[in-house]
Amino acid sequence: MVRPRYDETVAVTPQAKLDARKLRADFPIFEQVIHGKPLAYLDSAVTSHKPRQVLDKLRTFYETSYANVHRGVYTLSERATEEYEGARDKVARFVNAPSSREIVFVRGATEGLNLVAYAWGLDNLGPGDVVLVTELEHHSNFVPWQYIAQRTGAAFRAIPLDEHGELRLDALDEVAGSDRVKVVAVNLVSNALGTINPVEALAPWAHERGAILVVDAAQAAPHHAVDVQALGCDFLAFSAHKMCGPTSVGALWGRLEILEAMAPFNLGGHMIRSVKLDKTTWGQVPAKFEAGTQPIAEAVGFGAAVDYLTAIGLDAIEEHERALAAVTLERLAEVPGVRLYGPPPERRAGIVSFNLEGVHPHDVAQVLDMDGVAIRAGHHCCQPLMAKLGVAATNRASFYLYSLPEEVDRLVVGVDKARTLFA
Ligand SMILES: Cc1ncc(COP(=O)(O)O)c(C=O)c1O
Repeated sequence: MVRPRYDETVAVTPQAKLDARKLRADFPIFEQVIHGKPLAYLDSAVTSHKPRQVLDKLRTFYETSYANVHRGVYTLSERATEEYEGARDKVARFVNAPSSREIVFVRGATEGLNLVAYAWGLDNLGPGDVVLVTELEHHSNFVPWQYIAQRTGAAFRAIPLDEHGELRLDALDEVAGSDRVKVVAVNLVSNALGTINPVEALAPWAHERGAILVVDAAQAAPHHAVDVQALGCDFLAFSAHKMCGPTSVGALWGRLEILEAMAPFNLGGHMIRSVKLDKTTWGQVPAKFEAGTQPIAEAVGFGAAVDYLTAIGLDAIEEHERALAAVTLERLAEVPGVRLYGPPPERRAGIVSFNLEGVHPHDVAQVLDMDGVAIRAGHHCCQPLMAKLGVAATNRASFYLYSLPEEVDRLVVGVDKARTLFA
């Protein structure tokens, strides 16, 4: 029987630069109990909770400054436009984009990646070209590329993983062969295993071959500092809802010259320069990619989330989560029958995937839920990875700035309880 011992592991807290217990007071969701227990929300990789600072900003914006943007000449519309464009500036600074014009507001990482696959891929891919993804991709950075490769006649291949769930860079040349690689699409942090991928090392390889590098930063941007210039990528997509912001908004960063050369993705209002019966011309970047009424309040809330995370410090957030993940790996290894997946703690973010021998992940997650502990059980939108691991699903605990050391303890005790229940 595994016993609670979070006092021993709490060493991560006093030294940490981040006070998770204090920050937790910013999140109203934690004021409730689930099945009589405090909510231990260990599913932040799927979506994060929202602090009052973001919720208040949304309310104030709707109450005082809301109107449609880039349309009206009246004061309220100008105020709303200023807030919306101010949020774009914040997001640009957040990823060290050379220009705010390189930030396109999209519905989320999925739409951003589809935008690149459709708008860039349909015009630039063809027979003889290769699209390279990884065996570790979320379906959002896998399926659009597979589909566009099929539509254009390009080959679609995946960079393989080693036994730790890390990319085999030694296999790159072999996978590419002498073919023309046009796209390398990779996530910066794997949502299923927490692997931190060596994007900086992939960039020169991709560019030497004349390929663009498309980075899915959905699991990276919320948790550690992202610098598009240091990464050397060409596109980078992420979602606000995973980083304390609202749903239905995210950002696609792209190099200005590539965005300018691209055809639009969605067509309609706001994205045009002129419309005539025989011809329509496009507006400037980023308007060219923001057809229709934008996610106005959502973008403003996204800006507030960026302010919130920046004030806490991304380095402190990263350190906090990695410490929790390291303790989780160590503690879960003590539970008989637990199989852990993914790289060692020093090369992973705050995500821990595991299985309990002979017990379906859904059963483990349900036992935990009865104790107020929320984890994810499933394929994590990574079916190719699950096939590689030889499983249909895993359990996954994922941490954020509001996660507490005793929640790790409750997780481990709950998993052990599932073991005894289903033995
Ligand atoms: C690595 C990764 N990429 C992309 C996505 C898709 O994000 P969204 O559903 O916000 O578009 C997710 C969501 O879980 C993810 O984890």
